[in-house]
Amino acid sequence: MTLQAKQWLYAVLCIGFLAMSLSVYMSTENVDRGFSLMSEDVRAGKQLFQDYNCTSCHQIFGLGGYMGPDLTNCMSSERGPKYAEVMLRYGAIPRMPNLGLTDQEIKELLAFLMYIDKSGTSPPVDFEINSIGTIDIKHYQDDE
Ligand code: HEC
Repeated sequence: MTLQAKQWLYAVLCIGFLAMSLSVYMSTENVDRGFSLMSEDVRAGKQLFQDYNCTSCHQIFGLGGYMGPDLTNCMSSERGPKYAEVMLRYGAIPRMPNLGLTDQEIKELLAFLMYIDKSGTSPPVDFEINSIGTIDIKHYQDDE
């Protein structure tokens, strides 16, 4: 290839890269943040979860405070939705506060927890950390 041909090719690739970057950066219309999968109750529950700062004590997928348990799969655990409902309604002395939630708020929070439960399993029970820092999951809680 002649030098001029190389320079042309280089220029075309650079322009292509910039055009691609720009189009990816500018296209926001097609971004689906998952809202279409959420019912009204789930959305309201998500907002309540933020407003009451449940994350200060609870984790979802391992992220959050550590005073209370991880809530990712509390709905499908052996304790299940009834236990969660009682917790939300009355709290548990001394650490899970009774937040004085209304029936509607409890319903919405339970819907949100149900939605989170279906989105995955946390924490994985058995995993190995690879040399490059990624993890290989050996099995999940559900497989036991
Ligand atoms: C001050 C810390 C704190 C805050 C804030 C808090 N929790 Fe808790 N929560 C706890 C603790 C501690 C437990 C475990 C209580 C026990 O087992 O005695 C718990 C238990 C629970 C359980 C039962 C989980 C299971 O094991 O099945 C649910 C559900 C729950 N909390 C939901 C929530 C939600 C939703 C919010 C926000 C509206 C919230 N919590 C706010 C501390 C907290």
